[in-house]
Amino acid sequence: MTSAYNSFPMTGGNGQHSYLHNSSYQKAAIDGAEEKTRQCILEKLSRQLNSDLGIVRIADFGCSSGPNTFHAVQNIIDTVKFKQLKENNEGSLMPLEFQVFFNDQPNNDFNTLFRTLPPSFQREYFSVGVPGSFYGRLLPTQSIHIGHTSYTTHWLSEVPKDVCVKNSLAWNKNYILCNNAIEEVTKAYKIQFIKDMRVFLEARAEEIVHGGLMFVLGQCLADGVNMSETWQGIVVDTIGNCLMDMAKSGLTSKEKVELFNLPVYFPQFSELKREIERNRCFTIETMETISHPLEDNPLSNNFIISMFRAILNTIIKEHFGEGVVNELFDRLAKKLAMYPIDFKKCEKHVNYFILLKRN
Ligand SMILES: C[S@@+](CC[C@H](N)C(=O)[O-])C[C@H]1O[C@@H](n2cnc3c(N)ncnc32)[C@H](O)[C@@H]1O
Repeated sequence: MTSAYNSFPMTGGNGQHSYLHNSSYQKAAIDGAEEKTRQCILEKLSRQLNSDLGIVRIADFGCSSGPNTFHAVQNIIDTVKFKQLKENNEGSLMPLEFQVFFNDQPNNDFNTLFRTLPPSFQREYFSVGVPGSFYGRLLPTQSIHIGHTSYTTHWLSEVPKDVCVKNSLAWNKNYILCNNAIEEVTKAYKIQFIKDMRVFLEARAEEIVHGGLMFVLGQCLADGVNMSETWQGIVVDTIGNCLMDMAKSGLTSKEKVELFNLPVYFPQFSELKREIERNRCFTIETMETISHPLEDNPLSNNFIISMFRAILNTIIKEHFGEGVVNELFDRLAKKLAMYPIDFKKCEKHVNYFILLKRN
């Protein structure tokens, strides 16, 4: 699998299949964490940081093309302003200015992001685009007061080499994701995840000021649960089956399917915690699971297919060519209609909310 940037952004633009129109699942999770984020800022952002600053710098790592990032950022800004008001009611208020750094990979659709920014009369911040991988330094030393990232760090910097090597014990021949069915495959992905998490936290530790906050939201597996047992794992395995069917019909090659793997890994909760604890520059202020507002009821097939298409379109196009995408997702729709996901029987991913404080 090759790409100019080894990165596969969400579907850009504002068309039917765009991330912009198909990311309400992620948005619901961010909204669900809004109150907790507020509480954390009110309690944990140091008073000194908040009042001495003048300029508050916020960075969202892996912001995509919008709009979820705008909601996350606005909530942070509103809360910092509220905190300043509350804590300075007897003194004179120095007006705060906000600068927001929107980071994603260089081939992310930054044009759509900036075109859809809230209108300037509503926007109380200066915007900066930061192209580059968050698995490395992106911003000056000690420049950020509040970092945020949501639904990003399960994307690895690359697919572990061995899972694409024929005859390697870790060759993930029959699957397109680490679904925990093969021990050697899980091991290879785990090693990559550990390395990436270390680099992510080391870079953020350089960029975030002492006493600054870093919010990390996302999904992982509950301890003891395999990816193949979750509905998300079942959907991706079904996409893999559809690709195999397409190879049998001559619409792509078997070899292409066998060498296709997603650079995505969902750790178990305690595995994630262990890797975060390894970094001594941050204190874990909060690390807990939160419920996902949309997961109380079964999700419809159409919703699931649109969400996965917005996420996977770029990487599938890159590996198999443009022509494959429509056919693949039509087949996925038919398969899920024939074999509906039994949400009662399968496991759910765990949504986590983490607040780290820079020591
Ligand atoms: C599922 S989207 C989440 C977008 C947004 N944070 C949200 O919650 O809706 C994952 C985003 O992470 C970005 N991403 C993945 N790996 C990255 C990396 N190494 N550096 C920067 N961004 C990355 C992708 O390009 C994509 O925009």
